[in-house]
Amino acid sequence: MWIHRRPQWPEMRVAIIGAGVIGLSTAQSIYEQYNSIISPLTIEVYADCFTPLTTSDGAAGLWQPYLYDNNNLKEREWNKQTFDYLVSCLSSPECVKMGVFLQSGYNLCTEPSPEPSFKDIVLGFRCLTERELQMFPGYSSGWFNTSVMVEGKTYLPWLMDWLQERGVKFFHRKISSFTELSKSGADVIINCTGVRAGELQPDPELKPARGQIIKVDAPWLKHWVLTHHSSGVYNSPYIIPGSRLVTVGGLFQVGNWSEHNNITDHDNIWEQACQLEPSLKHAKKMYDWTGLRPFRNTVRLERETILCGPTAIQVIHNYGHGGFGLTIHRGCAQEAARLFGQILGQKGFGPKARL
Ligand code: FAD
Ligand code: BEZ
Repeated sequence: MWIHRRPQWPEMRVAIIGAGVIGLSTAQSIYEQYNSIISPLTIEVYADCFTPLTTSDGAAGLWQPYLYDNNNLKEREWNKQTFDYLVSCLSSPECVKMGVFLQSGYNLCTEPSPEPSFKDIVLGFRCLTERELQMFPGYSSGWFNTSVMVEGKTYLPWLMDWLQERGVKFFHRKISSFTELSKSGADVIINCTGVRAGELQPDPELKPARGQIIKVDAPWLKHWVLTHHSSGVYNSPYIIPGSRLVTVGGLFQVGNWSEHNNITDHDNIWEQACQLEPSLKHAKKMYDWTGLRPFRNTVRLERETILCGPTAIQVIHNYGHGGFGLTIHRGCAQEAARLFGQILGQKGFGPKARL
């Protein structure tokens, strides 16, 4: 009689630091790509904040990159992969539990502007007509398109459930160094720590870009409206209807680490938003929220070998997604998983043997 055995591969333990949209989606992509071919594969997520307390939970959840991506083709591709993935989810009944739905709206500019880099990714992109522009005094050009919403407050719990059902382990604790995780047995570490990545490894390029928003009850608003002034990205008013409440923003204060709501900021945001959409005066204000975007010139998504005495630690960095973490998360997660696969190959991990 033949006895068939699986070869005895050593265990592969991957530790992901961060449970925002980037950490959780990276865990999901690693599971999807490798669980059926590497055994045993242990995926662990370490974080000191879980949903609903991460930055990703507070974000409005509109898929929209910055207007211009300086020809960063990798990021454009990751944004597109995320858009296409989210749209593909719409054909599943799961999309309700995921917090994913289509939403159309306006981008408004105060001066003639080149068409945005994402024009061929979104649905039904077109320039605004004169009649539409008349609805928004002070704006001289703009575009209309349909995009997709992925609301962090719904999506993150869905991702957590998805991962938990598949045996991914969660640890509620602060990580002080990569060495700490390596010493406790992690073979590969994935750094998804968002705006706080500098605590684990200094990164002068990474800065907080503080945002403050007001959540209001205004169910008559059905379209998002984003405005673009010379004051820079998201430093001008925006209105984004969500599944229950409308998000009114916004600010983009680079270098400001304050996570407190500020009354002067509140008043400025509200005044500008009411000018843009006067019916907001009838809305019931529910609460303010402040969050720190992990602002960087480019997303940091790369492998690094860190030497700690005689030990070489394999780290994949996946942070610095600025004001577009939900917009780009899936493409980045797939890329991080691909880099993880490279490490597996180099470490000699092979596919599961057929029984
Ligand atoms: P986070 O969600 O901040 O998660 C970081 C995780 O790392 C947390 O779990 C934290 O506890 C953990 N962590 C960090 N350091 C450690 C450590 N040392 N030990 C243990 N755990 C650690 N993006 C969009 O695409 N669309 C939007 O509509 C949108 N709206 C926004 C509105 C506002 C006001 C703001 C502020 C941001 C908005 N964003 C939006 C941007 C988006 O929120 C971020 O890009 C995204 O949340 C970043 O995700 P992340 O997982 O990297 O970080
Ligand atoms: C923000 O970062 O405030 C934001 C991001 C995407 C769409 C709208 C707002």
